[in-house]
Amino acid sequence: MSDFAELHFNGEVYKIPIIEGTENEKALDISKLRGESGLITIDPGYKNTGSTKSAITFLDGEKGILRYRGYPIEQLAEQSSFLEVAYLIIYGELPNEEQLNKWRVDITYHTLIHEDFKVLLEGFPSNSHPMGVLSSLVTSLTAFYPESLDPVRSADEVYMNIIRLIAKLPTIAAWAYKNEIGQPLMYPKNDLDYCGNFLKMMFGTPSEDYEPDPVIIKALNKLLILHAEHEQNCSTSTVRIVGSSHASLYASVSAGINALWGPLHGGANQAVIEMLEAIRADGGDANKYLEKAKDKNDPFRLMGFGHRVYKNFDPRARIIKKAADDVLSKLGVNDPILDIAKKLEAAALSDPYFVDRKLYPNVDFYSGIIYRALGIPTNMFTVMFAMGRLPGWIAQWKEMRENGEPIGRPRQIYTGENERDYVELSKR
Ligand code: ACO
Repeated sequence: MSDFAELHFNGEVYKIPIIEGTENEKALDISKLRGESGLITIDPGYKNTGSTKSAITFLDGEKGILRYRGYPIEQLAEQSSFLEVAYLIIYGELPNEEQLNKWRVDITYHTLIHEDFKVLLEGFPSNSHPMGVLSSLVTSLTAFYPESLDPVRSADEVYMNIIRLIAKLPTIAAWAYKNEIGQPLMYPKNDLDYCGNFLKMMFGTPSEDYEPDPVIIKALNKLLILHAEHEQNCSTSTVRIVGSSHASLYASVSAGINALWGPLHGGANQAVIEMLEAIRADGGDANKYLEKAKDKNDPFRLMGFGHRVYKNFDPRARIIKKAADDVLSKLGVNDPILDIAKKLEAAALSDPYFVDRKLYPNVDFYSGIIYRALGIPTNMFTVMFAMGRLPGWIAQWKEMRENGEPIGRPRQIYTGENERDYVELSKR
């Protein structure tokens, strides 16, 4: 294979180096192209642009492959725990027993959040969307831990910032929910594991003991693993670009939470359930909504279908679909919107519009259904996604800083007015 490609432009020939990844994927390195030829490349939505080299996740959208640090997602979802996977993603190797124990103990020890967070929470109207509260409170961590503002001073400080964020996010998330529904805040219980603790803070009350169901804990653990990392998606690229200005880890992750919120990204899991409920309220005719999704004059999109990189199937969706079936039968859930979901899924998978465009159910189609079966309120779905994605954001931020990457700053092709003279107000 040649190690460069040639670009012929205006009678000149430019050699563009080819770089190759460990899975033989190839890219043109155009970083010097503008200096040599005056040309930039343009690619709205970065559909075909690699923004970085990364050793964290390998994803092949055509073959439906997803691996964290080389380990297939199927094996991790089946055999691992979320905290173990978080360690793997952030530090590159599966932890040994001693490392895993220390990791678990350190995270468990830091789950409490400062009492002054209550004052911040009280400032939010009770119907605030928990994603907005989550991102605001994650940024507020910088005020409580000012040393985090200069995050790469020492490896110990980076470690502590990471531990605090992973430990406190479930507490912040559960408190955001309690604040929304007007119930007393529940403190973390250090004898519970990561998922059990979160569920207890969400559903427990001081007057009624709540013991998380092992079926729900297991399902939640799997969901968090499936969401833990997904290379350069919208929210992760946001974390990297904010962090590239040397903003702190907390500020960068807070930005990632906001990017995740939109319905075309992580917010799709909430949008899926809202869509299914709307179809049900409208008589339950799935075909009517399929037609709407196909109609180019109608802005409606089938939420939970399609993906920027998966064009055959989303491997996470396969695992989650099976987990959803297990959970629904074990918990004996009989939810009328499931029938509508199944009809939509079957119809979309055989309809030429969806087949031709390779629009398959994505991870959010099933995660919304499973979160609902677990009793998680709809507006907390994207918060659950954020809790899962946290190790990925942290790992990408850390890798970007350790590799000394430059500040993210794309270029553009200007399409506005050419130079013109200012016109006085009275003459306009
Ligand atoms: N319903 C109907 N048509 C769709 C859908 C959909 N959900 N998704 C894509 N299409 C159509 C587009 O209209 C377009 O058709 P055209 O070629 O005739 O113009 C074609 O499929 C390609 O779609 P794009 O928007 O160009 O694909 P892109 O890669 O930019 O978008 C996205 C991917 C945002 C996920 C899109 O499929 C979508 O909006 N899906 C619904 C929202 C969703 O489920 N998001 C969650 C994604 S998973 C995640 O972020 C964790």
